[in-house]
Parts: sequence; C-alpha cells; structure tokens
Amino acid sequence: MAQLVVALDFKDAARALSMARSLKGAVSWMKVGLELFTAEGPAVVSGLKDMGFNVFLDLKFFDIPNTVQGAVRSAARLGADMVNIHALGGERMAQAAMVGCVEGVISGAKPPLILAVTMLTSMAAGDLPVDGAPAPSEMALDLAVKAKQYGLNGVVCSGLEVVDIKSACGSEYICLTPGIRPATLSGDDQRRVVTPAQAVHNGSDFLVVGRPVTGASSPRDAAVTIVEEMLSAE
Ligand code: C5P
Repeated sequence: MAQLVVALDFKDAARALSMARSLKGAVSWMKVGLELFTAEGPAVVSGLKDMGFNVFLDLKFFDIPNTVQGAVRSAARLGADMVNIHALGGERMAQAAMVGCVEGVISGAKPPLILAVTMLTSMAAGDLPVDGAPAPSEMALDLAVKAKQYGLNGVVCSGLEVVDIKSACGSEYICLTPGIRPATLSGDDQRRVVTPAQAVHNGSDFLVVGRPVTGASSPRDAAVTIVEEMLSAE
C-alpha cells in the first residue's frame, strides 16, 4: 500500500514538531529536508522518532565517495529510516553510501533505505544546464536503471515516470514521488506533477507532499483527504 510522507519544510523545529503532532495518527512518515536540518540539525530527527514517526532524511547527498559514506553512516546512526543520494554521483558514490549505511546502522535496527534522486520534479525539459540533454523522463529512467544496478533500494522520481521505471527495474524497486498536487491546487515551483490518485495508480510506493498539507487551513484534514484519494486509487 502506498504511503504518504509529509515534507516538513519549516524554518524551525518548534513549527515542524507542532505540525507533526497535529498529523499524528493520520500520517506515519515525515520528511526532514535541507531547510529544517540546516536550521536544527539531528535533534529534529530524534524528536520525530521519539514521537513514533518514520523519518525520511532528504539531504540528497552528492559528494566524493568518502564524504557520502560518512554522511550516510551518520544518518543511519541517527535512526533515519530512509535517506537519499544523487544517482548522478555514479557507482562508486552509491557503493560508498551502502557501506556507510551498514557501518552506521544501530544494532538490531533495520538499515535505512537508500534511494537515488533521478531528476528533480521541479525540472522540466530545458531546465538541465546541459546542451542536448535528454528529456527529463528519459533521463530519470536511465538513472533509475543505473541506480538499480548499483544495488540501491529505489529512486526519487516523478509520478509520471513510475510505470516505465517499475517495468524496467521490477515492481519491488521503490519509487518515491514528490511533485504531488491535488487537482484543485497549483503546482507551485514543481513541474512534473501528478495527483495523489495518479501517483498511486501508476504504482508509486511513497508520495511526498509538502505545501498542499502544511499550507492548508487544516493540515490534518488535507492529509486525510489525500490519504482517502490514495486509498480509492489502490
Ligand atoms: O511542497 P511540495 O509538495 O512541493 O514539497 C515537495 C518536497 O519534496 C520538498 O521538500 C522537496 O525538497 C522534495 N523533493 C522534491 N523533488 C525531488 C526530491 C525531493 O520536490 N526530486
């Protein structure tokens, strides 16, 4: 069954934890990204874990293998349930991430899933600053196939790409999809968007949703509505 992950893109832990508290029972996964982690550091991840949430630490690591190995080791030690690296970092970086994951995992705990970011869902054709670059969906598929060969658990991609990625990489290969927008809302800075129902229909395993939930007048009602739409598309 597909799961909703709420992106806690807040400037401080007080706001993020208060949002998480208001969603308790309706959502089981929270995402900590660059803004919140840069402001508050590991404590916010521990705070969410203490509240009983699964945590996706979305820091999109992209560096030399040794540095990424250490970063994933630290994320695993912190208790993150899912982390991500850029597929563009290539095979040696991906392998270093997997080593770091094993080194850092808390004894007795499940190691975090490692996903590869393919093409950001905010990017459309022409946004990649590379002459003659393939279309974003083609690029996402190529990177997903490579990340699978490296041994990673899955990818971050658009809901538009899930069908092709699953058919090339197998149904067990995880597809986590940001760029989710209920039909009534604008896409904001996102470009390759789908509705919650389309994402589930296409086979997405995790739907990441930020502003449509956290910016709603009742975030809990917005999350429940999205989960209902997801369930009806299963
Ligand atoms: O507010 P919105 O639903 O657009 O938030 C999407 C979240 O997913 C943001 O936190 C963003 O950083 C993250 N994300 C993304 N595209 C990716 C990877 C992560 O939008 N490829």
